[in-house]
Amino acid sequence: MDFPTELISYLHAATRVAVLTGAGVSQESGLRTFRDAQEGLWAQYRPEDLATPEAFDRNPRLVWEFYAMRRLKAGEVLPNAGHIALAEIENRFPAFTLITQNVDGLHQRAGSQSVIELHGNITRARCSKCDFFLEKWADSGDDVPPCPHCGGLLRPDVVWFGETLPAQALSAAIEAARHCQAFFSIGTSGLVQPAASLAFAAKERGAVIVEINAEPTPLTPSADFFFQGSSGKILPQLSRALN
Ligand code: OAD
Repeated sequence: MDFPTELISYLHAATRVAVLTGAGVSQESGLRTFRDAQEGLWAQYRPEDLATPEAFDRNPRLVWEFYAMRRLKAGEVLPNAGHIALAEIENRFPAFTLITQNVDGLHQRAGSQSVIELHGNITRARCSKCDFFLEKWADSGDDVPPCPHCGGLLRPDVVWFGETLPAQALSAAIEAARHCQAFFSIGTSGLVQPAASLAFAAKERGAVIVEINAEPTPLTPSADFFFQGSSGKILPQLSRALN
């Protein structure tokens, strides 16, 4: 891929960069996206049955098992060339913030240091009653494990539809978007708020918007640069072009 010289020169001079990633970045690791018409998780399952507080109240075991399955899968796969390139690119900028909607922990495993998890992380659990956080727990596979603190049901430490995002993560993401000189939106459909509005907040403050996606999205008409294709191919090329 040939990147426009004006973009590479701009990035060479930039010191503050923010990146928003979505499920597309992990697709080449073998994890399913949400909205792909055939392969997406929400093509097979209804989010109302698995990713809302009401669904957990109705059938905690079904919801726990859905996330246990995804946790297992995320643990089996490896970060791909796109995750690794983002960790390399981070080192080129004095202020670099990676904001992710992904809950799979692959950015951290690839070596990214400054990661804001907007939607939580499936490798962690927390108590649905007392909010006690856990990184490890015994899972018999038969039932939802109890909180060691109060006995309440454990739930995955992720954000469900209808829930608010972790306040600190969201304010740090807004701050990074408002103060960056370049904002990258990578592998996200841009359909879920408030994450989707971050690129527009960055643009309003004068940042250059760069989008990398397999398909055009609602952001594409507002992007200064749109690179269509897979992030696992384009990001390593970008990292080399910045050398
Ligand atoms: P989506 O499934 O909505 O979108 C994935 C995007 O990645 C699409 O725009 C694809 O075109 C693109 N894509 C797929 N493969 C790609 C690849 N190899 N390289 C580059 N782009 C690729 O996933 P998200 O935008 O992450 O929230 O979804 C946002 C939120 O909706 C998720 O965090 C999740 C979901 O419901 C919660 O669970 C709260």
